[in-house]
Amino acid sequence: KLEQQPIIDPAKLVGRDLWDLKGNIAKLLGSGHPSLNTVAKHYFSADGKHVRPLLVLLIAQATSIAPKKSTQPKDITHHNENQYRSIDTPISNGLQNILKDGVFDQQTHYTPSITHQGCTILPTQRRLAEISEMIHTASLLHDDVIDASATRRNLPSANASFGNKMAVLAGDFLLARASLTLARLRNSECIELMATCLANLVEGEFMQLKNTRDKDGKAKITFDYYIEKTYMKTGSLIAQSCKSSAVLGNCTSEVNDIAFQFGRNLGLAFQLVDDMLDFTVTAADLGKPAGADLKLGLATAPVLFAWEEFPELEPLIKRKFANEGDVEKARILVYQSDGLKKTLALAEEHCNLAITAIKKLPPSDARSALIQLTEKLLTRRH
Ligand code: FPP
Ligand code: MG
Ligand code: MG
Repeated sequence: KLEQQPIIDPAKLVGRDLWDLKGNIAKLLGSGHPSLNTVAKHYFSADGKHVRPLLVLLIAQATSIAPKKSTQPKDITHHNENQYRSIDTPISNGLQNILKDGVFDQQTHYTPSITHQGCTILPTQRRLAEISEMIHTASLLHDDVIDASATRRNLPSANASFGNKMAVLAGDFLLARASLTLARLRNSECIELMATCLANLVEGEFMQLKNTRDKDGKAKITFDYYIEKTYMKTGSLIAQSCKSSAVLGNCTSEVNDIAFQFGRNLGLAFQLVDDMLDFTVTAADLGKPAGADLKLGLATAPVLFAWEEFPELEPLIKRKFANEGDVEKARILVYQSDGLKKTLALAEEHCNLAITAIKKLPPSDARSALIQLTEKLLTRRH
């Protein structure tokens, strides 16, 4: 049974930081080319859920009172231009010699650190929150091209508005600026972790395109493969962002691992719920197409669970629901099975694992907020 936790509003803990985040990202994405500006910022004009930055900021607070390594990291939060550019040096837009204005006006903004119950957030951790959101948004720009998706966040997708070429390039631009910003944190472990998750995003998307490891026709589709793919496409970015936040806070490797395990399990649960909502929620609620996965040929957890009850699903899964009537037939069998219930139960298991991990940190409001966020994930509708 769940222990009684005080109700914590994350907005009270990190609301101001999240507010700054949006303006800072806009500045980090400044480009001399107005069209690139427009496409790169397209998905930031609608309000996303900001799940990843919220987690980074709350992990920063929750781990700030956890055990630290004895060696102090170099303080790079103050200007030291002689050696390096500091983390809030304006980014050159490449056209500064020809453009008159809007170039040097890109200084990012940091609210002075607010201490809550002795919990703090470092400037580098705020910047990491921005990086995680930029990487996530880059992957959405590319994902909507791959999925030929026409809507996102209740708006026309970037590919629908500007075409595939510009959407892909804008995604690359976001990745480039995220990389530059990451380099300026001057923390090689953090760069390594975030670079790993960039590769994992692509690997996850490839695993999804292929649906099995076998190159020949004898495709063996397994639940393990689905879970590994899910870690790659969703779990890795969340897990590595959480871990990086602890790393930037100079935490011990035990604390870094707690942050990773929390993020990994939360990420898996998040995608499991996403795959369930694709069957249960309308496009209006989702703000993006519903019922899309079967049409894309994807057998997600609800279908894989339904397959255990209805073996006749196997040929449909193998041919990626390509024949006429496959999508409709599979959808009906999923609804007739316990597939959706089992998917939610598996998501709940991962939520519990995430909570078990985070409870190893000392108690704080930030920790309580992380626990509540994890619990609420199971009842989200979009
Ligand atoms: C959304 O999945 C997509 C992802 C979580 C990852 C997409 C990754 C890539 C396209 C690889 C490129 C990577 C980088 C770093 C640019 P979904 O299609 O199931 O979700 P949706 O319903 O929100 O579209
Ligand atoms: Mg998609
Ligand atoms: Mg996709």
